Amino acid sequence: MADSHAKMTQATPQEILISVLAGLFAPLLAIFLIVMLVLSIQAKHKPDTSSEAAQKATLERIKPFATLAALDANAPKVEKSGQEVFEAVCTTCHTPGALGAPKFQNKADWGPRIKQGYDTLIKHALEGIRQMPPRGGDGDLSDTEVARAVAYMANAAGADFKAPEAPAPAAAGKAADAGKTAAAPAKPDPAKGKAVFEGTCVACHGTGVAGAPKLGDKAAWGPRISQGYATLYDHALHGIRAMPAKGGNASLSEADVANAVAYLVTEGGGKL
Ligand code: HEC
Ligand code: HEC
Repeated sequence: MADSHAKMTQATPQEILISVLAGLFAPLLAIFLIVMLVLSIQAKHKPDTSSEAAQKATLERIKPFATLAALDANAPKVEKSGQEVFEAVCTTCHTPGALGAPKFQNKADWGPRIKQGYDTLIKHALEGIRQMPPRGGDGDLSDTEVARAVAYMANAAGADFKAPEAPAPAAAGKAADAGKTAAAPAKPDPAKGKAVFEGTCVACHGTGVAGAPKLGDKAAWGPRISQGYATLYDHALHGIRAMPAKGGNASLSEADVANAVAYLVTEGGGKL
């Protein structure tokens, strides 16, 4: 008994060392776990880009570059590709088929819609239709970007639409040289303009409301046509006197307006 008692109370140096180490281990383990926890929280924490303050801070940071870009008059606005627009905006509804949106790559969903034609689909995408919001809800998208996204989605479901290209730098330079007159799109198409006319311009140009030159009235159109197509297009796009810009329909694309002017001009006895 005495022997074993002595063993329990009198620790050897090795035993002391072991018990000291064991005593240290517990707090070290705790510290280690706390460090791991903090690191994992930091890893999960993403910078806050949604708050207004954060966006302002970002704008402040990029301001010097944004100003430089604005100063460089030759720098064209970089328009997103159809895929980029789709991935940024349209995918929200068109991938899951939310609200009854035709699903991406689903030929059964898209088939009947594609039959309406590229222009109608673009129009519906720009203006919205039923649950489909105008421009997919992103008012910052340009007409070209929306048209590209429409082609991207329709082509992924079997269509063969040709998305509008970015204007070549040379053409942009020419447009700048032309001064204030807007450069008319390359090939206005009177046949396509008919639908635009019937959707918008007919309200005044059908019967001559507010002094509007009537469709097919050669006497009324003659002097106007002699101004040249580019001037007429410019007036239709930006408005002139009682003629509102784009005929008052802001959702019309520039190509829509150009086509409608071409239709009015050819019906009025002019040539393009
Ligand atoms: C908030 C949801 C939502 C978003 C975002 C959205 N769409 Fe849609 N889209 C719809 C719905 C719903 C329909 C079906 C509307 C109908 O025919 O009733 C639709 C239909 C369409 C159609 C077919 C129209 C027709 O005439 O058949 C096109 C083209 C289209 N969307 C393009 C786009 C493009 C391009 C984008 C992105 C820029 C986009 N959509 C973003 C909900 C959305
Ligand atoms: C709210 C009525 C109204 C609508 C809608 C309207 N116009 Fe006009 N438009 C006029 C009037 C009024 C004039 C004559 C303006 C003048 O010369 O004083 C005119 C003149 C024009 C001219 C001749 C401009 C010139 O320089 O002589 C063109 C081209 C034209 N419109 C195109 C269009 C097109 C394209 C649309 C449809 C996208 C359209 N208009 C829709 C009222 C309208």
